[in-house]
Amino acid sequence: MSETAKLNLPDGQSIELPVITGTENEKAIDISQLRAKTGHITLDPGYGNTGSCTSKITFIDGEKGVLRHRGISIEDLAANASFVEVAYLLIFGHLPTLEEHGRFAQELRHHALIHEDMKHFFDSFSSSAHPMAILSAMVASLSAYYGQATGEASMENFEMDAIRLISKIRTLAAFSYRKSIGKPFIYPKSALPYCENFLRMMFNMPEEDYIPDPEVTNALNLLLILHADHEQNCSTSTVRSVGSTKANLFASVASGILALWGPLHGGANQQVVNMLEMIKEDGSNVDKYVAKAKDSKDPFRLMGFGHRVYKNYDPRAKVIKGACDKVLEKLGVHDPVLEVAKRLEEHALSDDYFKELKLFPNVDFYSGIIYRAIGIPTDMFTVIFTIGRVPGWIAHWKEMMEEPKTRIVRPRQVYNGDTNSKYIPRSDRS
Ligand code: ACO
Repeated sequence: MSETAKLNLPDGQSIELPVITGTENEKAIDISQLRAKTGHITLDPGYGNTGSCTSKITFIDGEKGVLRHRGISIEDLAANASFVEVAYLLIFGHLPTLEEHGRFAQELRHHALIHEDMKHFFDSFSSSAHPMAILSAMVASLSAYYGQATGEASMENFEMDAIRLISKIRTLAAFSYRKSIGKPFIYPKSALPYCENFLRMMFNMPEEDYIPDPEVTNALNLLLILHADHEQNCSTSTVRSVGSTKANLFASVASGILALWGPLHGGANQQVVNMLEMIKEDGSNVDKYVAKAKDSKDPFRLMGFGHRVYKNYDPRAKVIKGACDKVLEKLGVHDPVLEVAKRLEEHALSDDYFKELKLFPNVDFYSGIIYRAIGIPTDMFTVIFTIGRVPGWIAHWKEMMEEPKTRIVRPRQVYNGDTNSKYIPRSDRS
């Protein structure tokens, strides 16, 4: 027998609401008929208690610090998989067979080039433009080349569009960087695997061939896997919201990129390194900054700390922290901000404020230190996050398009503004 929850309203109405149980035993009260039957809506600013859909892609247990994609733990994927495999897993729901993997990887190699006309767009951006501003505009522009003539969503070419997006995003990202440093664009090379191809487009010089160190390639592969999906976070919800209007895949993903850019979301990785640098310059006075973060009158927050869902150590941050020491050691890099980061973490984790609010390091706390060690400049950190997150966005867009019950996203509100005011002629206003 299906479970229900009973809601008694102050006006005397009463309603039985179905309770939905997920495969990991998560419970949700289905309120979809609440307004139609009672005239009431629910109010949940920031959607901390609102499930916007059911999904088979990613499971998070924020209390226990668990993250699984299609049932496979993030630790297992990080230790054993390639980013291309994880992308396939997220989008198509299973790990690819040898044949599926070969075909998918081959297609990714063959679709890295962008339309030659798009290259000229880069000339119109100021050289000080943030690469995220360029990348989002470029991904939206892919609709003009590869979308349907009407610009509408279509599943007819879904697989090819997904491949184009995963492949070309690297080229667009690398070109954005080359533009910002005034260096010539390096075209993709189809013989190279996913991460090597991107690193070569970033760092090759006409006068000197770039040969990626396997440590660097492995570190990038790991970071892309760790960022590949995170269920209904702000940028993924944005992709779903825009996609729910039947906007095409490129347009929907471009909107996700802009949501990710914000400093409270993916933009935090850049902010973390800036913050650590600032603390180092200020004599590595960790106590002072922990005190500032605790002070409710001070807007300063410890960037890379806290998470809406995790009330435990973010499992991705655990993997990155472990990788951080190894990568820096293997590359022979000594980065003093790593010391500041470790001291800051140690101090914060033993502090009552952080303990009570359950604020732990998130994925962005240590990722920037690895990006720096492998030669990625600070304002490209969120771009790398974006490349990693693209398969997750695509998987959610596809799941939503294939769900017959999907409706346009349109939350309601409780209006609390003026009522029944009158127009006052301009000359009479004081
Ligand atoms: N430093 C100090 N205090 C914090 C921090 C922090 N990093 N994060 C949260 N708090 C405090 C808040 O001040 C608040 O305290 P209060 O209840 O006394 O007012 C309490 O913890 C709850 O914080 P909220 O902002 O309400 O939590 P929310 O779930 O809305 O926000 C967020 C989560 C945005 C991640 C927040 O923790 C934050 O701003 N962290 C820093 C930015 C960051 O690292 N973002 C990346 C997140 S991971 C990602 O998006 C990929």
